[in-house]
Amino acid sequence: EGDEELEARPPVVTVMGHVDHGKTRLLDAIRKSDVMAGEHGGITQHIGAYQVTHNHEGDDRKITFIDTPGHEAFTAMRARGAKVTDIAILVVAADDGVMPQTVEALNHAQAANVPIVVAVNKIDKEGANPDKVRGQLTEYGLVPEEYGGDTMFVEVSARQNLNIDELLEAVLLTADAALDMRANPNKDARGIAIEANLDKGRGAVATVLVQSGTLRVGDTIVAGTAHGRVRAMFDDDGSALTEAGPSRPVQVLGLSNVPRAGDTFFVTADERTARQIAEKREAADRNAALAKRRKRISLEDFD
Ligand code: GTP
Ligand code: NA
Ligand code: MG
Repeated sequence: EGDEELEARPPVVTVMGHVDHGKTRLLDAIRKSDVMAGEHGGITQHIGAYQVTHNHEGDDRKITFIDTPGHEAFTAMRARGAKVTDIAILVVAADDGVMPQTVEALNHAQAANVPIVVAVNKIDKEGANPDKVRGQLTEYGLVPEEYGGDTMFVEVSARQNLNIDELLEAVLLTADAALDMRANPNKDARGIAIEANLDKGRGAVATVLVQSGTLRVGDTIVAGTAHGRVRAMFDDDGSALTEAGPSRPVQVLGLSNVPRAGDTFFVTADERTARQIAEKREAADRNAALAKRRKRISLEDFD
């Protein structure tokens, strides 16, 4: 890895937090803040992830957001050993304060060593008390910068589109301070499946996040136990792509079946190799399931 030509890549961000604290609304507000939005005239569609461009000190910087229901996707992927997220935005409603799932979310992020930016949301509401949120989270080790800690807190209103740029700024500052966000784009792609479904007309449709290398139409890939030649790729605004570099989420057509969220994918030399690896994995999965069943049966024998 030492001689690799590493290039800067966008940070990949997940939004987490307690139910109804505004994760979905915030993701919508962030997406609308994109300075490039509408550039291609495409209709935005849900593919489980999107990229926005934010102007940071004169530079156009991209940020990738995973927008599958944050919490479950994050834990499911992590349970499978996949590391998807560079940074977590922890959304806390300023009127509600820290709640059980807030704590769960921050525990997950801390266990995964993922830096957290706190979005204190709903500051437009009567009864909003952002300082109380600061105090509560300090007790969990998330100490705001203004209290001498190193966690950035940004007061936002997803409903009123308030301070969304400031939040993106905080994400980039945190990324630049805490992470080495580089990858080699000049090799075969590797990454993670974020979500997938079976479409009547198009077959298996998978959104994958490229983590290193560049994925191209025509590449053969294995994703979990799915395999195939990439027939077409699409952006979150529906435009067709021929290639996708590090941190880019893309919708991929051409897989034999539907991978699971968190499955890793990589490019193989040819279709035969891809099929063989997929078949081996399928057999391994079957054997593991069988072994589990046998164990259960032998335990029942002792009842
Ligand atoms: P789950 O996915 O169910 O966990 O919820 P969520 O965290 O995605 O919350 P969601 O974005 O669905 O917002 C929950 C409710 O809070 C909705 O009625 C939103 O309109 C409202 N809401 C979200 N952000 C704000 C805000 O900044 N201000 C106000 N006043 N309401 C907000
Ligand atoms: Na909700
Ligand atoms: Mg939601």
